[in-house]
Amino acid sequence: MYKIRDRKIKIAVFDTKQNDIDYFNAANQDGKFEISFFEERLDPDTAHLAVGYDVACVFTNDIVNKEVINILSDEMVDFVALRCAGYNNVDLTTAHKRLHLANVPNYSPYAVAEHAMALLLTSVRRIHKAYNRTREYNFDIDDLVGFELHGKTIGVIGTGKIGKKFINICKGFGMNVIAYDKFPDEKSNINYVDKDTLFKESDIISIHCPLTSYSKHMINKTSISKMKKGVIIVNTSRGGLVDSDALVEGLLSKKVGAACLDVYEDEANVFFRDLSNHIMRDDILARLLSMPNVIVTSHQAFLTDEALKNIADTTLKNIEEFFDKGFCKNEL
Ligand code: NAI
Repeated sequence: MYKIRDRKIKIAVFDTKQNDIDYFNAANQDGKFEISFFEERLDPDTAHLAVGYDVACVFTNDIVNKEVINILSDEMVDFVALRCAGYNNVDLTTAHKRLHLANVPNYSPYAVAEHAMALLLTSVRRIHKAYNRTREYNFDIDDLVGFELHGKTIGVIGTGKIGKKFINICKGFGMNVIAYDKFPDEKSNINYVDKDTLFKESDIISIHCPLTSYSKHMINKTSISKMKKGVIIVNTSRGGLVDSDALVEGLLSKKVGAACLDVYEDEANVFFRDLSNHIMRDDILARLLSMPNVIVTSHQAFLTDEALKNIADTTLKNIEEFFDKGFCKNEL
């Protein structure tokens, strides 16, 4: 039913950055696919751009809601290829009745795990402040006292592909690792505890679980109140896992000692854009960025050469498999 033999499969890539063009063109060197790149994010206003294409290829901040799914399926777009692992931006219930979807579940857990540790080390050794100082020939080391990770307790929430790699990195630093997972891996030797124990005992908490209706705002006013004073919160997973208002309150009251964020609840309005000549309209983000103990990167934990290559290769493989066989192993 899905075989297209008389012409190339046509793919509309949304929310395109130069990286996408470079890596997708490299993966499509043999010219098997006809790929068009659109800078626009997919949403109800831009969905018409996919008219005439077989596939809409989307990323983390594209919107694949009921309205978009209806437009795509009415326009005979058969397949939505997510070039990312998380799919909290997709209305799966509607999608299942109207079109097929696949993600890239395992492009490089090392990319995200290593970025989480990079953020944490930057924070605890004040690298971000030292970097700015030395560039201005300011070699003063006042206020740069950090602390050692060795011997500290880190609580890892979510022990899937990324969480497990992160745990290994933490063990390499001599940290005491405890973990919480809704579905613990009984075959592993991970030291699982319940969520409250993790909140209570961790010096640092790093989040590696998906954003679902169950996990939304798992870091909130109540959970922060259970944490150690000075706890460091690392979030490289999805912004909605942390209630940003509660995080700001926690930082202001010094209950939270530092935050390392690669993701942010309302990131869709700001991340992946150069807004340096604009006034920041997001007061919560502006507040967070004003704090010396908050480090924000704009959803770049995945951004390694290895991961980008895997993403482009697997996305095109997903599409090829689906149109050849009518199903694909990464189908959601
Ligand atoms: P995974 O599916 O391998 O692991 C997720 C783990 O979380 C599983 O063990 C699952 O049982 C657990 N889990 C599910 N619901 C939970 C809950 N409510 N509380 C605690 N644990 C729960 O996923 P993977 O590949 O490890 O990715 C984790 C997350 O990392 C993704 O969902 C995505 O949001 C995020 N991510 C972020 C990237 C970035 O660039 N910042 C890039 C790739 C993924």
